[in-house]
Amino acid sequence: MSPDERLLAYVRELFAREDDVLATIRARHAADGLPEIFISPEEAQIITVLLTAAGARRVLEVGTLGGYSGVWIARALGPGGRLVTIERDAARAEVARESFRAAGVADRVELVVGEASQVLAKLEPGFDAVFLDADKEPLVGYFQEAMRLLEVGGLLLVDNAFIHGRVADPADREPDVEGVRALNRLAATDERLVSAVVPVRDGLTVGVKVRD
Ligand code: DHB
Ligand code: MG
Repeated sequence: MSPDERLLAYVRELFAREDDVLATIRARHAADGLPEIFISPEEAQIITVLLTAAGARRVLEVGTLGGYSGVWIARALGPGGRLVTIERDAARAEVARESFRAAGVADRVELVVGEASQVLAKLEPGFDAVFLDADKEPLVGYFQEAMRLLEVGGLLLVDNAFIHGRVADPADREPDVEGVRALNRLAATDERLVSAVVPVRDGLTVGVKVRD
């Protein structure tokens, strides 16, 4: 193990241990041919701390996939919380449904199957946090909807702030990279937000909505 890997293992062991439910979700992705893409336990624990600090009760996630991050979020909210999570792929949503059931959090999760842009447009404001972790090209549109839906004091959380380091490669002008760049620019400059990037895994952009 490199020194970085040793430090990561040290932090994970102390602060961000995965239980059998989460390990089973990983295994299910492999067995069912779902993309093996998960937030890391350290990232999930940072999200847990932020949601706890914000006293979040109502959270919106865009990009459920197999429910790995959703289980972490639903657990962070406790029994009175509510997670609305959007997934466009019905097969992935089926795996996620099973994940929420296995974790015992199905009663606090509303899984909506559909195109995020269409589902978001129909939601009413009142969210304490929004976690964007779906396709990257439409991020500006997702950002605008998130800002409409968030309460003042609410958290904007966006995964893949670095998009595998490509965000800092000026030669890379692919639409997904441009989407992440535009999102980060908005998070950094929109006066309704106080924001930072937490350099965990592939980068987590974090903003607090301080005014309407
Ligand atoms: C990948 C990772 C992510 O966290 C994501 O949201 C999308 C894609 C990837 O590794 O390809
Ligand atoms: Mg991601």
